[in-house]
Amino acid sequence: MKNFELKFNAKAIHAGSKPCPATGAHIGPIYRSSTFVMDNVEQAIRISQGEEEGYSYGRFGNPTETELEEKMAALENGENALATASGMAAITTTLMTFLKNGDHLIAGDIIYGCTYGLIRDILTKYGIEVTFVDTSDLENIKKAIQPNTKVIYIETPCNPVLRIADIGGAAEIAHNNGASLIVDSTFATPFLQNPLDLGADVVVHSATKYLGGHGDIVGGIIVSSKEIISKIRDPHLQFFGGIISPGDAFLIIRGLKTLGIRMKAHCESAQAVAEYLEEHPMVEKVYYPGLPSHPQHELAKKQMRGFGGMMSFDVKGGFEGGKTVMNNVKLISLATSLGCIDSLIQHSPSMSHFTMSKEERGKVGIMEGQVRLSVGIEEAENIIEDLENALEEVKKLGV
Ligand SMILES: Cc1ncc(COP(=O)(O)O)c(C=O)c1O
Repeated sequence: MKNFELKFNAKAIHAGSKPCPATGAHIGPIYRSSTFVMDNVEQAIRISQGEEEGYSYGRFGNPTETELEEKMAALENGENALATASGMAAITTTLMTFLKNGDHLIAGDIIYGCTYGLIRDILTKYGIEVTFVDTSDLENIKKAIQPNTKVIYIETPCNPVLRIADIGGAAEIAHNNGASLIVDSTFATPFLQNPLDLGADVVVHSATKYLGGHGDIVGGIIVSSKEIISKIRDPHLQFFGGIISPGDAFLIIRGLKTLGIRMKAHCESAQAVAEYLEEHPMVEKVYYPGLPSHPQHELAKKQMRGFGGMMSFDVKGGFEGGKTVMNNVKLISLATSLGCIDSLIQHSPSMSHFTMSKEERGKVGIMEGQVRLSVGIEEAENIIEDLENALEEVKKLGV
């Protein structure tokens, strides 16, 4: 028989998943068990010392979690993966594994608000030095390197203004200076970009978003080499304890099976919505990497296989203009989070980026009225009709 390579959807459906070995049930069960029964003490010793593969206690691993990890490792072309309780648990556990007192971290100056807060307020409390830079320009990363730099942390596309960082270029700088590159690829998903293939050491995701896809779980994923994942798992995740629940792991497994077809629909609708908004007289600026006006459009074309479902835009009239749009959409829900099958709109300064001060946001260009839109998989015409009605209300402000 000839071997063949699995394409994205085939991998997403089959990797890691198999029928239940006990009953033959087509879809593997949710293993809701906090502990696992041993044959004898000798086996308990072998498992605890890593001489035999097996499960012992829920915080150290669970078969449903393993299914999710194998699927995500396959989709990100990594050797291994680790599922966590949230995207923030994935980020915190990874950074705490790589960094210690006296080390230096370079991070993007526009990243998800809670990651920014974690780095600015918590890591620095443990004696980790931090430099925030605009990571869309590799020169800024190079200039920030210090002898004690251990990690470069980028988010690409970044939340909320969709700036793109050159993953391959950042990996080269990291490796030439004895550091590691960690990439938050939540906005892209493995359908649109594979940071490990471009040289990153670790990729992290908030699985709450596109991977789960239906807005019904909170979870996170870390993908990397076997060696790095085993260091993050044991002892860091085991001791910090931010593990995923088997029920949530099951819903992410189910979500991943349709990730490819969902992402195609997100990308198609988002492109149409971004082009519509860019032409609208009440819209000042649209931030979407699929638009030729985006400053890193060419880089996005090179390192991504599509531009995703996320965008931000500034409405004429500043805060009043943005607020009027968000308060007048009907199909689109005013809610933080993103990557759901339904469209979500939010006010970035008060929702995803409340942890940054007004001054910090102003410095990096997160405008006070800025609107972030997570384009769902509804038909683009309907999303545009909803926005059209809301933008009509902005016209009435006379701005
Ligand atoms: C880019 C990005 N990374 C990480 C996170 C954190 O994920 P979670 O909310 O699952 O902890 C978020 C949440 O919005 C995000 O947008």
